[in-house]
Amino acid sequence: MTVKSPADTLVLGGGGREHAMVRMLSESRVTGRIHCAPGNPGIAALAETHAFDICDGTSVRDFCLSHGIDIVLIGPEAPLVAGVADTLREAGIPVFGPGRDGARLEGSKAFSKSFMKRHGIPTAPFNICRTLGECERALEHREPPYVIKADGLAAGKGVFLPEQKSEALAICRELLEGGVLGDAGRAIVAEDYLPGRELTVFAVTDGKSYRILPPSRDHKRVYDGDKGPNTGGMGAYSPVTLPGGLMDRVAEEVLEPTLSGLAAENILYRGVIYMGLMLREERDGVKISVVEYNARFGDPEAQAVLPLLSGDFGSLAQKTALGELEEYPETVFSGHALCVVLATEGYPGEFKKGAEISGLGRDAEFEDTYVFHAGTAVNGEGKIVTNGGRVLAATGVGPTFESAKERAYARASAIRFDGMHYRRDIGWSERA
Ligand code: AMP
Ligand code: GLY
Repeated sequence: MTVKSPADTLVLGGGGREHAMVRMLSESRVTGRIHCAPGNPGIAALAETHAFDICDGTSVRDFCLSHGIDIVLIGPEAPLVAGVADTLREAGIPVFGPGRDGARLEGSKAFSKSFMKRHGIPTAPFNICRTLGECERALEHREPPYVIKADGLAAGKGVFLPEQKSEALAICRELLEGGVLGDAGRAIVAEDYLPGRELTVFAVTDGKSYRILPPSRDHKRVYDGDKGPNTGGMGAYSPVTLPGGLMDRVAEEVLEPTLSGLAAENILYRGVIYMGLMLREERDGVKISVVEYNARFGDPEAQAVLPLLSGDFGSLAQKTALGELEEYPETVFSGHALCVVLATEGYPGEFKKGAEISGLGRDAEFEDTYVFHAGTAVNGEGKIVTNGGRVLAATGVGPTFESAKERAYARASAIRFDGMHYRRDIGWSERA
């Protein structure tokens, strides 16, 4: 398979991650026209945006055929898990993103935990439970905090860390019998709690070669000091300073067995593998465990990692989609980046929409910064307004962690909307 150069490209998704992907594609020499569905007002400045059901493979394929799309990049998990990549590949369209079988690494925790066990990949000991009796037995030999996970996709709402066994069982009952998360909760993974510090590592693979991207860390709690409820991520930075040799160990202990496991199970994987890791200091060194896989870039980690790419992102995506990743240069990332999410007061709970946003058009005043849109919309008067919990992400890039942080916060503080809230301590763990 080949693609036309420059290649007319479709990106699926409409958050900050997809804005970052579109931005990098807009600087690519091998990318032609960029289309995005559904996109957002930030993306609309760089791409033609379209409204169709991105989880319906037939609609996506028909759009591609009628618009002469040469390659598709799938941003979020839902279309991956729905098998959109399979429908496109069957129609001869190259895709950056795994098919339904590979996306099960993210779409089914029961599958991904069993996969790790089958292939000797380090992860917390676990049980898969389909009845309340099985949950009771799984919790019997465990200690608090208990870790209860719904098997399927739950938009970040499927992981529970209760302190009491009674609470843990009540959650299991709601999932299994109350159906609170629908089919996603029809099976449960109960696992050991892993203490330590989290790390995100993305690898891009075409099923044969891989490229590891710089490690990043996101900050999931809504308030400074890692307080308050979990969110989709309030900010991230990259690279993370790590003990020497740690990334080589991630490749050897996690990524390579993951790729050989996929190959052994006849799963052709072309896209991103997100390794959500827990690092724990032990007497004999750092222990690495996999908390989760995702089948896509993280959000907001992508908004901190992709701007570090000095190579051509369009070429990286094309070579991955075509199975030619071997031809892509090895080291093309440099510098530091930090991204601050500007959220709406109340998020991740109830929040208002429709507040006018000021300070967006001032990028030229701020060196090496990006503002990525996530939850924004254009109102009846043509003004950009808030339309989600996570509204924008301000990213700063620089030669050092400090310079990246300073630039990100300078850019963030020039933006205003009613109820704007952001964390002031993104990157704290870099200096802890
Ligand atoms: P997951 O969707 O599996 O990544 O879980 C969401 C978050 O819950 C993770 O990013 C961790 O912060 C936390 N978590 C999940 N599993 C564990 C575990 N076994 N031990 C400690 N924290 C966990
Ligand atoms: N930031 C976490 C995720 O994208 O899953």
